[in-house]
Amino acid sequence: MHEEIRKLFDLSGKVALITGGARHLGLDAASVLAAAGCRVALTSREITAAEKTADRLAQTYGTETLPIALDHTDAAHVEEAVSLTISRFGRIDVLVNNAGGGTPGSGTPTLAERDPEDIRELIELNLTGVLYCSRAVGRVMAEQGSGKIISIASIAGLVGRDRRVYEPSRMAPSQVDYAAAKAGVIGMTRDLAGWLSPHGICVNAISPGGFARNLPEQFVADYSDRTPLGRMGRYGVDLKGAVLFLASPASDYVTGHNLVVDGGFSWWK
Ligand SMILES: NC(=O)c1ccc[n+]([C@@H]2O[C@H](COP(=O)([O-])OP(=O)(O)OC[C@H]3O[C@@H](n4cnc5c(N)ncnc54)[C@H](O)[C@@H]3O)[C@@H](O)[C@H]2O)c1
Repeated sequence: MHEEIRKLFDLSGKVALITGGARHLGLDAASVLAAAGCRVALTSREITAAEKTADRLAQTYGTETLPIALDHTDAAHVEEAVSLTISRFGRIDVLVNNAGGGTPGSGTPTLAERDPEDIRELIELNLTGVLYCSRAVGRVMAEQGSGKIISIASIAGLVGRDRRVYEPSRMAPSQVDYAAAKAGVIGMTRDLAGWLSPHGICVNAISPGGFARNLPEQFVADYSDRTPLGRMGRYGVDLKGAVLFLASPASDYVTGHNLVVDGGFSWWK
């Protein structure tokens, strides 16, 4: 590989903090950043899950890792996680706000019947926690005068769901409050980018489409059929390039952007 390309994507010696980095898409983000040379702090609500992944990444990529237990809906807990990362590595160059998800709680699929407490929890998980992490790490990055904040939003924040795709497979589609929270992450990204740009910090979002994991065959077929590239996203593969691009010098003039990684699903009708 030519030196010019290596320089664009080299993250040697940088420090990345990835929330929910122990599994699935968070693990993909942590893996590609470790492969590019980052020292990696990764969080999970369960410290044992974080430890297991941290050990695996250290062995695979020969980099330093730090496992942290974190509930990012607790602002004080977030401050502690950031302090732990700073005391171990001295700085934070990349934050990946990945922790989140579709359907916590026991709410029924429709907004009309959903328990308000479940709605509150889902918004805290997908939006408030992202704000807390961006607030705490943004402060550190502003002092450094550099940094990259990447938040994993969703195409649910961009387009409405066609519930008919879910019905034949008897699947619960993601909630209306999930769409609201993810749209909030995209809005937050733009305003935070404006606020942090003078400090040399780039703030961007990634909006994945559906990634396939233990889903009914019929749903995968129906969803793939509605996707220009003809398939769902692949864990371990399809998110990594977007994360590496937004974390690396290759994207130094990109901020306030929402990079959609969905095989074309959200623009095709
Ligand atoms: N999988 C998809 O198809 C898809 C599509 C679009 C967007 N996303 C988004 O990508 C991100 C990762 O999705 P995934 O499918 O890998 O999800 P996942 O459920 O496998 O992982 C979510 C991670 O968040 C962590 N987490 C959950 N609650 C937390 C809390 N209160 N505090 C801290 N961490 C917490 C979990 O421990 C886990 O590591 C999420 O933000 C999700 O909304 C996923």
